[in-house]
Parts: sequence; C-alpha cells; structure tokens
Amino acid sequence: MKPVSSHRPFASACRLLLAVLVLSVPTQLAGQQLRVPAPATPLETVGGMVVSEHHVASRVGAEVLAAGGNAVDAAIATGFALAVTHPSAGNIGGGGFMVIRFPDGSTTALDFREKAPLRAFPQMWLDEDGEYSSRRHHDSHLAVGVPGTVAGFDKAHLLYGRVNWERLVYPAVALADDGFEVHEGLARGLRSLVERTPYEATREAFSNGGVPYEAGDTIRQPDLASTLNRIMLGRAEGFYRGRTAELLAAEMERGGGMITLEDLARYRARERAPITGSYRGYDIISMPPPSSGGVAMVTMLNMLEGYEMGEIEHNSPEYVHLLAEAMRRAYADRARFLADPDRVDVPVHALTAKARADSLRATIDPARATPSDLDEVAQWPESPETTHYSVVDEDGMAVSVTYTLEQGYGSEIVVPGAGFLLNNEMGDFNAAPGMTTEGGLIGTTPNLARPEQRMLSSMTPSIVARDGELVAVVGSPGGRTIINTVMQVILNRIDHDMSPLDAVGAPRLHHQWFPDRISIEAAGVSEAEAERLRAMGHTVRVGGRQGLAHSIFIDPATGRRVGVPDPRNSNAGAAGH
Ligand code: GLY
Repeated sequence: MKPVSSHRPFASACRLLLAVLVLSVPTQLAGQQLRVPAPATPLETVGGMVVSEHHVASRVGAEVLAAGGNAVDAAIATGFALAVTHPSAGNIGGGGFMVIRFPDGSTTALDFREKAPLRAFPQMWLDEDGEYSSRRHHDSHLAVGVPGTVAGFDKAHLLYGRVNWERLVYPAVALADDGFEVHEGLARGLRSLVERTPYEATREAFSNGGVPYEAGDTIRQPDLASTLNRIMLGRAEGFYRGRTAELLAAEMERGGGMITLEDLARYRARERAPITGSYRGYDIISMPPPSSGGVAMVTMLNMLEGYEMGEIEHNSPEYVHLLAEAMRRAYADRARFLADPDRVDVPVHALTAKARADSLRATIDPARATPSDLDEVAQWPESPETTHYSVVDEDGMAVSVTYTLEQGYGSEIVVPGAGFLLNNEMGDFNAAPGMTTEGGLIGTTPNLARPEQRMLSSMTPSIVARDGELVAVVGSPGGRTIINTVMQVILNRIDHDMSPLDAVGAPRLHHQWFPDRISIEAAGVSEAEAERLRAMGHTVRVGGRQGLAHSIFIDPATGRRVGVPDPRNSNAGAAGH
C-alpha cells in the first residue's frame, strides 16, 4: 500500500468527541446483529436492509437501521457515504429522487433534481457564431446545474427521519477523513480521470500527490471531509450558504459558469405525489416529472398488460419485439410531452391512463417493427452513469433512491477547497429551440433550459406492492436505459416468476424510439434469434451492459427480504440485520 497524505483535519480529539456524542445516542434497536455478506452476494433477512453500489455505503446504512433509524435515515446515511466511496455518481454536487412507501401503504416522493441557474436561457449552448457547442452543453462550467442532493436529504430528514442528522452524516465525514480501500474499478476510473483532467483540484482530490491510486491503496479526501463536516453541523445551510457556497460560486466565476450565491440560496427540494399505476394486480409506485421514469414505465406496463407476457418465452424474438414496440411508443411520448412540471403543463394522467395504452397498443403489429417516426427527433444520448440504492426497514418502510452527477464524475470539476465534484446535468436539457438534427439533437420546447427549470431525467426509483403489502424496491442507473431496466426487473418477477437473483441478473434489452434500434445484452439472444428480429424489421445490436439494479424483494407471506446487489458489479453490496 502506498503512503497517504498525513493531512487529516478531523483526526483529532475534537472529532473523537463528536464520534462519541453522535454514535452513542441511545437507540431502540441497539445491539442488533449486523449482517454484511461479501460484496455482490445476496442477503436474506427479516429486518432492515440496504443494497447499494458500494458495500461500505450499504454497511453504513444498515448500521443506522440496526441503531434504530428508519429507512429514510438509512437512505440519507447511505447517500452521504456513497458521495465518498463512489465518486463517479454518489454525490453532494448533483441531484436525484427518492420514492418512499410507508408501512401503512401511503407513499410520497422527493425531488432534489438540479435546476438551471437564474441566468440560464434556451440558447446558452450556442457559440459566438450561433453554432451548437456540445462542449459547452456537456463539458464546461456552463453544464453545471444547481445541486440538489443536500437539500433533498435535509428535507427527507426533516419530514420523515427518526434519528439525529449528525448520526447520518458522521459516517461519511469519517470515511472521507480516515479513508477507505480503493477497489480495482475505482482505481481504473480515478487513474483515467486524473490523467485527462485539466482541473488541478480534481487531480489533487483523486490522486495521491499526483500519483494515481492503485487497488488496495487507501484514499483520503480531507477537503470533502471538511465540507461534509459543515453539512453535519449546518444541515443544508452548510452547503447552500457560507463557506461551501462561497467556494462553489468562486469556482463558477473562475471557470465561466453561471451559478451564483443567490442560485444556491434559492434552491429547494420538492415533495411530489408519486406516479402510481397497476400491472396485473400489482401497484407500481414511481417517480413523477421532472423524471420521465414513472410516466414512461407505467405507460409501457399498461401496453404490455394487454398481452399474455407470462405465456411468451422470456427474451424470445416475439417477447423482445413486444417490449421494443412498447418502449418505442412510450419514449416518443417522453420526448414530446415530459419536462419540469413546475414550468410546463405535463399531461401525466392522460399519458398513464389505461385508455392511452390501449390506443398505443392498437398500433403495434405483432409481426413487424413500426419504424420510428422520422418527422420526430432524436435526442442527445444520456450518460449511463448515476447510481441507485434500495432500503427497507424493520417496520416495512421502503425507500428507493436514484441520484446522479449525470456523466461519470459529472463535469469532472472538483470545487477547490471543498473536495466534491460538480454535476454536468445541464446536458439533460434540449440543445436549442428548433435545433433538431439527424445527428441526435432535439429542439422541442418543453425541456429547454430556462431560469430555475429542472432538466428532464430518466431516473426511475420505484416500489412495488400488492394487496397493501410491500413486494419490491427497484431502480437502476443507465441514462435512458434506466426506465427499461427497472421495468424488466418487475416483469421478470411478475410474469416469469424468476428468483430475485435471476430477475436482476437476466439479460436486458433497450429501445428508446431514436435511434431506432434494439440493444440487447450479449446473453439475451442467440444469433438466430437476432436474425429473426432483423427479419421483422428491427435493427439489433447485441452486447454491452445495461443497468445496475440493486434491489430488495419482500415475500409478503413471511416478511423475508432478499437483497440483490446486481451481479453486473462486483463491489455492490447488501447489508442488513
Ligand atoms: N442524468 C441521467 C438522468 O437524470 O436520467
């Protein structure tokens, strides 16, 4: 192991005292046996459980559950821990969504999506010559949206948390300050980041004095520890005002970004009514706009409910065809209608009504692909980064969280002196009014950048219930593939009665209207099956990996929970009691 920096601001008597105060709070469940299997291993319990992208973060959340916290508490602690251990997507400089189902069956959703700064305008990614600049849109200080994560966690805690705030943030402070072991994938990601970044603060935060970390090294993030400490002591104010806000605004000014102290002070997370739908007697609870996830997934499930999907061989050409045709139609609606509901009138009820699905289904030819309408427009591809985690507590409260920096490591800009990465979520806005090109840009009106508008997302944190009982907590990263990933995990359980592990592990497919193409994971179809799909008029691409659906399934009869870290990632983990 390489030597690491000796700069450790909180490894002091002061932090020790804080640890004693924060961690020794008496708790009703204290003393519960924590169960932390090896990374990537499913876990069965009857108590609380967390499944996330990094096993250390899952453990942090499970410790909160075992110490008497509820699922919202655990979700907050896990989210802060992921901001340290999973820097490519875990964050305090990005945003996301949380869907909650309470033990009495009631539900709610928290929207902490980033928003555009006050100075934003629809043509902001055109250069001096009026040409669209993908660099400005996706890879510049202008691409940074006003972060929402800390406000979201603060609001979730104020509304529904049970244990004190410090208890939830402290483990992340300690992880950033003491460090944690770098795994192989993280070492690879950080090496590539520090080798390409033009930003000195990014190199400083994610290398060991300029030398890339290797697997087995300990990475410490002292500036991030200081920022998390300010959040621990000041809650959201520790991020949106004072030193953290000043450092962020100074970096914006230095790099030509738009976010000001006023933008930060004005940021508010919002509580929204979830999207609710039904599929063969199961209740589907998911994220409303500004995510497109819940609306598009319910629209697709409504279409598929009209077929005997359980009678059709899983991933056979007939099955893939029906899924792809449902996806094509729902993603066309997504592009036409969905955006920030505070700025645009989104016809949510009409889009998710069974009648809408009936009319869409009537246009599906069971034997032939329907070409996507070329009068419509394609969209800039979204990044597959983002991260999802699922939480259930002992009482049956369920929390489904997906949050993101947009691309891996977001804008790749670390705020100097504050140690955290900023998102590049403004790239999820459309390119410019009327700018529709065959190359993949879209210029439709609803999702254009406007002051304080939230950019459209595909994140689909979801919960499934039946007859008043919790059945599953599901979600995934993966840009626009997210919606289809989550839907297929649900279909695998409901229609094909797959085991929890198979439901998450089974090969997945994706179609998003434009490009007019089905992508299928390699094990999903044989060459002969791909040929049959081509003969039906589909373009088929086989290969790649789709999603990381860290999920929890509950047997309503016994209350047993099965947590499944998606086998596509060997560092994901479940932990519980
Ligand atoms: N940036 C990915 C999403 O919000 O869907």
